[in-house]
Amino acid sequence: MQERNQKIIVALDFPGKEKGNHIIQALAGSGCWTKVGLELYAHEGPQIVRELKSLGFPVFLDLKLHDIPNTVVGAVRTLTKLEPDMLDVHCSGGYDMMARAVETAQETERSTGKRPLMIGVTVLTSMSGETLHTQLGVAKDLNEQVLFLARLAQRAGMDGVVASAKEAAFLRKALGPEFIIITPGIRPAWSQHYDQVRVVTPKDALAAGSSYLVVGRPITGAEDPQQALEKLWD
Ligand code: C5P
Repeated sequence: MQERNQKIIVALDFPGKEKGNHIIQALAGSGCWTKVGLELYAHEGPQIVRELKSLGFPVFLDLKLHDIPNTVVGAVRTLTKLEPDMLDVHCSGGYDMMARAVETAQETERSTGKRPLMIGVTVLTSMSGETLHTQLGVAKDLNEQVLFLARLAQRAGMDGVVASAKEAAFLRKALGPEFIIITPGIRPAWSQHYDQVRVVTPKDALAAGSSYLVVGRPITGAEDPQQALEKLWD
C-alpha cells in the first residue's frame, strides 16, 4: 500500500490551509506526495512547504515558473531553500531557461547534498489542439508539440515533464525508461470527472508509463480522503 501511494501526488488546491487541514492530517503517514500550487502558496507562503515536509510528505511545489532565465534562476535559488522534492517550470520558457534552472538546482545540491527534481510543464491539458493553433500560433499538432517540448526539457537536463496521461505512452517510448512523466487528469472509475475531460484511471495511467499520478478532487473532495486514497486502484 505504502509503495503504491508513493506514486500518488495529491493536489492541495484550496484557498488556505484551514480549508484543507483535515485532508492533510488524514493523509499524513500514508506515503503519498502533496502538491502545492499557486492558490495555496499565495495564501500560506513558504511556510506551507515547511509544514508539509515536517509532517513527512514529499512536496511538489507546482508554481510553473516561466520568465527570463535570470529571474527563474533567482526564484529557483530561493525556492530550493524550502527543500521541495519537485519544482516545475514551463518548457515554453525555452532551453536556456530550463538549463539554467537545472544548473541552479545542482548548485544547491553541491552545497546541501539535496535538490528538487526539476520538472517541465509541456502543454496544459486545458488547451486543445485547436487553441494551440488559433491562440498561441503553434503550427504543430498537440502531440507533436508535447513531444517537442518534452525532448527540449530532456536535452536541457530536466528530470521529467508534466503531460496528460493520454500522452504518457508515446512520451515513455520516445524519452526512455528513466525520464519522469507526471500525469494529472486521473479519475478512478468510481469518481466524478468534475471539469476534467480527458481522464484516465490510475491503473491505466501507470500502464501507459506514468511515473507519478496527480490526483486532486477524487481524494480532497471525498468525505474520507484516506479511504479514497486506498480505493484509488479499485
Ligand atoms: O482535482 P484534479 O484531480 O482535477 O486536480 C488536478 C491537478 O493537476 C490540479 O492541481 C491542476 O491544476 C493540475 N494540473 C492539471 N492539468 C495540467 C497540469 C496540472 O489538471 N495539465
